[in-house]
Amino acid sequence: MILRRALACSRLSQRVALTSSVARWYTPTIYKPDGTTHTVKEELTPLTKHIRDTILATGPISIAQYMQLALTSPIGGYYTRGQVFGREGDFVTSPEISQMFGEVMAVWYVMHWEMLGRPAKTVFVELGPGRGTLMDDIMRAAKRFKPFYASIRGIHFVEKSPELRKLQHDKLGCDWNATITVSDKNDSGKTPLSSVSQHHGGLEVGWHDVLEQVAVDKDCVPLVMAHEFFDALPIYKFEKGENGKWNEILVDVADSNTTPVQPAGLAQLRGSLQSSSSMEDSSASHFKFVRARGITSNAAMVLRDQRFDSLFDKGDRVEVSPESARVMIQLADWISANNGMGLIIDYGADWTQGDTFRGIKNHQFANPLQSPGSMDLTADVDFSYLRFAANGKAKCYGPIEQGSFLHSMGIQARLQQLLQSTSDNKVQKDLVDCYRRLTDIHSMGRVYKVLAVLPNSSKGVPIPFAQPTAEDPDKPATNRS
Ligand SMILES: C[S@@+](CC[C@H](N)C(=O)[O-])C[C@H]1O[C@@H](n2cnc3c(N)ncnc32)[C@H](O)[C@@H]1O
Repeated sequence: MILRRALACSRLSQRVALTSSVARWYTPTIYKPDGTTHTVKEELTPLTKHIRDTILATGPISIAQYMQLALTSPIGGYYTRGQVFGREGDFVTSPEISQMFGEVMAVWYVMHWEMLGRPAKTVFVELGPGRGTLMDDIMRAAKRFKPFYASIRGIHFVEKSPELRKLQHDKLGCDWNATITVSDKNDSGKTPLSSVSQHHGGLEVGWHDVLEQVAVDKDCVPLVMAHEFFDALPIYKFEKGENGKWNEILVDVADSNTTPVQPAGLAQLRGSLQSSSSMEDSSASHFKFVRARGITSNAAMVLRDQRFDSLFDKGDRVEVSPESARVMIQLADWISANNGMGLIIDYGADWTQGDTFRGIKNHQFANPLQSPGSMDLTADVDFSYLRFAANGKAKCYGPIEQGSFLHSMGIQARLQQLLQSTSDNKVQKDLVDCYRRLTDIHSMGRVYKVLAVLPNSSKGVPIPFAQPTAEDPDKPATNRS
């Protein structure tokens, strides 16, 4: 009886009920197939309401669309909040753990600048710079290599979040009097477009929404960094059904009559993070995962590559990020056209994975469908997919494990220097802890990987990589043997 009543509740009547309500708290009743019910307790924020209304109007949305809205929507997307990093925030990234990370990265750029024959002009370009800590550390370390430092003409940040742009601005000691700004979408302040860094010799700093907007002089070599950028780009998820056809996993409102799909349990993905109880308990959320009825245009487009059919069995899931491929194609073209070099550093694997989409809140994994805008949403990067996208446009090296990369680039020697510079036991212990966290295979040393991108015309193999990783279109990387 209860179930029948739920089925009778049409999407239209739900929408009317929702939009006519002025309450900030909307508590829909969820009717479960076993006849029991529960009530959603989660707050109906403007963003949650917007996503809910979108689904009620158009039907379930892709995970990619949900992710994009929850992370970057101007009405409360997670990255519009600014202060999300660090011990007091939701997660700590490698540059925020220790200055050693950025210093070692600077050494890599200096070595390859030497390898290129010391070009007279260079410019740094960072995708998704967060608080700006990594670039600040790179620039500080680069000052010790005077001829290299003298070649740097400026810094370009590709960053969508107005709040994070302000943090990056202040981190580099940019002068607000010299800053050109634009009104941000929330009108909550001024979003920096360009400025000069007082901490780094008056270098020009520019901000851009997308890489296409970054213009560099013909004879200026771009040095690109993308640290924990690709994991934030939207993914689609598909599951191979009993009939061998791919079904897309979508996001629906929790109180619709569709059957929910449980995400598989997550392994220890990001270093030593634990799962919070919300990971298992979806009852508080306004949203749920469902299977699409029939093949979606996303499934048709994203999985048209025959490899997905031959490599996966019934019941397998795959996560695919066409947006990552789009950015990678552009990055590879751009690096080749400008004779630059780039490092992509992120957690992930060199094959296609199936169930890594998750939320991160208060340093724990969380149910990604809970309270959109309140947590980071992320999925492991498929490096084989990035390399495949760049194939023929630029040379890719790796990925290799972060621990191995940092060791090869001299992180132990830098640790020794820092240890000798202080007699404070606590500082020394902290330094060693940070070093271990960045490099240990049970922490971030193995989960995080480093991929180098060099122009097609480049000669020589970048340190510490082996030969370029070749693509065999008939035998793509996969986690299946
Ligand atoms: C996980 S944070 C990493 C920050 C920093 N690289 C670090 O490691 O501390 C992701 C960064 O990418 C930015 N970002 C996410 N999606 C983006 C997009 N589509 N375009 C530009 N920036 C984006 C976020 O605002 C944020 O700065």
